Amino acid sequence: MGDPTDVSPAELPDHVAANRAAWDGYAPEYVDAAEREWALRPGQETWGLYGVPEATVRLLEDAGLEGSDAIELGCGTGYVSAWMARRGARPVAIDNSPKQLETAARLQREHGLEFPLLLGNAEEVPLPDGSFDVAISEYGAVLWADPERWVPEAARLLRPGGRLHLVMNSALAYLASPDDVDAAVEERLLRPQFGMGRIQWERETSVEFHLPHGEWIRLFRANGFEILELQELQAPEGATTRYDWMPYDWARKWPYEDVWKVRKGA
Ligand SMILES: C[S@@+](CC[C@H](N)C(=O)[O-])C[C@H]1O[C@@H](n2cnc3c(N)ncnc32)[C@H](O)[C@@H]1O
Repeated sequence: MGDPTDVSPAELPDHVAANRAAWDGYAPEYVDAAEREWALRPGQETWGLYGVPEATVRLLEDAGLEGSDAIELGCGTGYVSAWMARRGARPVAIDNSPKQLETAARLQREHGLEFPLLLGNAEEVPLPDGSFDVAISEYGAVLWADPERWVPEAARLLRPGGRLHLVMNSALAYLASPDDVDAAVEERLLRPQFGMGRIQWERETSVEFHLPHGEWIRLFRANGFEILELQELQAPEGATTRYDWMPYDWARKWPYEDVWKVRKGA
């Protein structure tokens, strides 16, 4: 089981360079969760901040993974790719952080599961057009890469009929989030929806991208995707999270995460 292959472009765009440095710093905080997630077997997978079961979200089930070529865009520690491999896909996992990929490579060895790990920018993946049947991102490129760049790239990488499945913070949660990155979401709108896009939270060097639903729909359609489903997630009853900024009561009342499933047209 090999080390990650560096496929980074010669020059990283500013936000990608900033996010590489930031994610190398965050990586140690993600090791424990990665160990737990890697251990999950088919049927045990859960998604997002409050661990909504795969049986509810059907991100893997609806992707038609058996025998497919799949890419995870912003794989972090690679557990979603491990889940896809165990469900019969041939995953390729790309991430922008060498440190996150170190954890992924170690867990590959420990679990005896091998798939390519690429160090690079999901906005510029040096693989041929039409290489994949499935592209997936859980809080990866979908949150940290520029949607005007990575969505066209995902469309290019997918074969006709290929699925793009995404999990991210809801647009509503973004609108109710204070500038302070550690502060909890509030029960009122704190920022405008118009002009929503790139954001840097107070005291953070990393850069995120958030779009409202209408902008996602425009972007998916402009890149030849048909929209299959938007699930607005509610925290399961009694669920807990390690992310204090998203309180349980809020996540029971309003959609705290958005799940998109779109398909590339024939
Ligand atoms: C929260 S992790 C997502 C991975 C995993 N699903 C998880 O929840 O831990 C975010 C990952 O996105 C990666 N990332 C950020 N910008 C990226 C880009 N432009 N291309 C590829 N990966 C990127 C980061 O390096 C980080 O590992």
